[in-house]
Amino acid sequence: MRSGTRFKIGLAHVAADDSEWTVEAVKQVAYQVIASADLFHPDNTQLLDGCAAAPLRPGERRLVLIDASVDRPHGERVRRWFTRHGVRGTFVPMRANEAVKDWESVEQVIDAMNTFGIDRRREPVIVIRGGVLLDIVGLAASLYRRGTPYIRIPTTLIGLVDAGVGVKTGVNYGNGKNRLGS
Ligand SMILES: NC(=O)c1ccc[n+]([C@@H]2O[C@H](COP(=O)([O-])OP(=O)(O)OC[C@H]3O[C@@H](n4cnc5c(N)ncnc54)[C@H](O)[C@@H]3O)[C@@H](O)[C@H]2O)c1
Repeated sequence: MRSGTRFKIGLAHVAADDSEWTVEAVKQVAYQVIASADLFHPDNTQLLDGCAAAPLRPGERRLVLIDASVDRPHGERVRRWFTRHGVRGTFVPMRANEAVKDWESVEQVIDAMNTFGIDRRREPVIVIRGGVLLDIVGLAASLYRRGTPYIRIPTTLIGLVDAGVGVKTGVNYGNGKNRLGS
């Protein structure tokens, strides 16, 4: 799933003497949801051409945030898929659970995006795992350069039916669940 945003800005309610006005802005969010079985089967090309707005071509690169517990059993297969299709993947395994679903983890992702030097027009960030990491990376991506596209690859039931398709992102703050979000 790839995200994109557009802004519509307008002026309204201008006072007769031009001393006061209201600015109205609408941020439109649109993204594709794609169902694909066995996404990292060597012959599956859904990730290459499934997202019309961000085709992935041989020789290109992607930043991939992956949960460490998913990386252990599945990471090698995912990396093989990247190699086979000539895509350079920079993999960042992250520890992600409800206890570390916080601002520090968001910063970690922002640091990774900054170090990678994301081209926000052509290089959507890829995130692989359950709802926790999808939410962390989603928040980081929505903040970095005021909105960087990202592709969510959910690996849990909640990820598939909810966090992976929903429009919200968020992390916990203080005692509040999803207190910081976008
Ligand atoms: N943004 C939204 O719209 C939205 C909607 C619903 C839920 N959420 C958020 O989602 C979170 C819950 O998501 P969750 O239930 O996916 O939890 P989770 O991300 O913590 O994943 C649950 C567990 O599954 C493990 N796991 C994931 N994929 C695996 C795999 N392929 N193999 C082995 N183990 C694997 C993880 O390591 C983890 O221990 C909550 O923080 C909630 O706030 C967000």
